[in-house]
Amino acid sequence: MQSSKDYVNQHKDRFITELIELLKIPSISADSAFSQDVLKTAEAVEKALIDAGCDAVELCETDGYPIIYGKKIVDSNLPTVLVYGHYDVQPPDPMELWDSPPFEPVVKETDLHPEGAIFARGSSDDKGQMYMHVKALEFMVKTDQLPCNVKFMIEGEEEVGSVNIATYVANNKEKLKNDVILISDTGMIAKESPSITTGLRGLSYVEVEVTGPNRDLHSGLYGGAVANPINILSKMIASLHDANNHITIPGFYDKVEELSKEERAEMAKAPFDLGEYQNALDIESIYGEKGYTTNERNSIRPTLDVNGIWGGYMGEGAKTVIASKAHAKISMRLVPHQDWHEITTLFETHFTSLAPKGVKIKITPHHGGQGYVTPIDTVAYRAAAKAYEATFGKTPIPQRSGGSIPIVSLFEKELGSKTILMGFGLDSDAIHSPNEHFGIWNYLKGIETIPYFFKFFTEMKA
Ligand code: BES
Ligand code: MN
Ligand code: MN
Repeated sequence: MQSSKDYVNQHKDRFITELIELLKIPSISADSAFSQDVLKTAEAVEKALIDAGCDAVELCETDGYPIIYGKKIVDSNLPTVLVYGHYDVQPPDPMELWDSPPFEPVVKETDLHPEGAIFARGSSDDKGQMYMHVKALEFMVKTDQLPCNVKFMIEGEEEVGSVNIATYVANNKEKLKNDVILISDTGMIAKESPSITTGLRGLSYVEVEVTGPNRDLHSGLYGGAVANPINILSKMIASLHDANNHITIPGFYDKVEELSKEERAEMAKAPFDLGEYQNALDIESIYGEKGYTTNERNSIRPTLDVNGIWGGYMGEGAKTVIASKAHAKISMRLVPHQDWHEITTLFETHFTSLAPKGVKIKITPHHGGQGYVTPIDTVAYRAAAKAYEATFGKTPIPQRSGGSIPIVSLFEKELGSKTILMGFGLDSDAIHSPNEHFGIWNYLKGIETIPYFFKFFTEMKA
């Protein structure tokens, strides 16, 4: 019987060309100017699933962008794997920082990727990783090696918070019923250090607006005599962390899960080179919450970051003006047991209390989601570990990630299913950034590894 490695070798050029075609469509879910392209991408994914061998594929309408649902049922007595992924992408801006246009994919060699990497928005997050599953299915179907049932659910609103998808999942529990959910939308430690993501952070995303005087003012005539919204907003934001970089919102840490010494010691075994980390980012020092390592700060600890801040004069040259309004977008990454609705309320109460008289505060919560942790003593985890052993010759390291995929905790709540996060991206892929890329080695390795998960999961479940 043909191995996945062999099949990948035989078809790799086509696998790369097909992904490049998908990456050409700018499926930016956040920007309504691209809605036709998002729909076009949905149709392309629908066709890809049919071509790969799904028996039934549907474009399911939602109040937002459609979900592509596909399935191939081999035998109702066998286990079912539900594959989730997303076909939408983040906006590409700032455009001027891209070395090649974001939706004109090019293959380039880099130090880390002598085999080449595909540069395009969505190459790693998540079109490339989602498409690995489509090609893995193709291999299993075409070579008659699909060992169990498979369902696909590929959505188009992940990058904007999966708001309509929640309704879809709640209304389609039977249709989505499964024994395990499989997702490739995360990363691994390094090419030579395969890892399985065992945790994701939750998220609360808010926008704040500070309004002072009812119009922009001459900064000489009024400066110093009225509250300047930009000064005030800066002060308020600065006060959200103390000298140890702890977050000052009362109650913020109340429900935070504290890890045991043993768990932290286990985490610290993951390979991490501080010098390399600093070099890659061109920073002279790391920074963060006192008492925690870099890997803890970006995974098991909650954080608060300004993602955007604006107001006043931002054009060329100088304009002497006190703006009437100042704005910021703030994200809080949350850890297990913190509830994102509760945290949003705590933020609103505290932030409002910080404002001096003389300004008005408006807070608009955007999306959010709960964090997730998955145990490693499950059949699904062991099957995934064995799959990596088969193709990397190494046991993967369990690793908690700092990113968020809100649908994962929702799946657990609505469907009672655990998720296995088999990510093949790297931190250096520059997801959400200019010059996002996905290593061809990673892409092909993913296609090679996924079928082993299906095989081992089915065998171990029996
Ligand atoms: N795929 C990412 C999340 C991710 C990346 C998790 C790498 C772990 C490692 C996903 O597409 C994403 O960007 N999620 C958003 C949240 C969403 C609600 C917009 C995020 O984490 O900012
Ligand atoms: Mn993603
Ligand atoms: Mn993303």
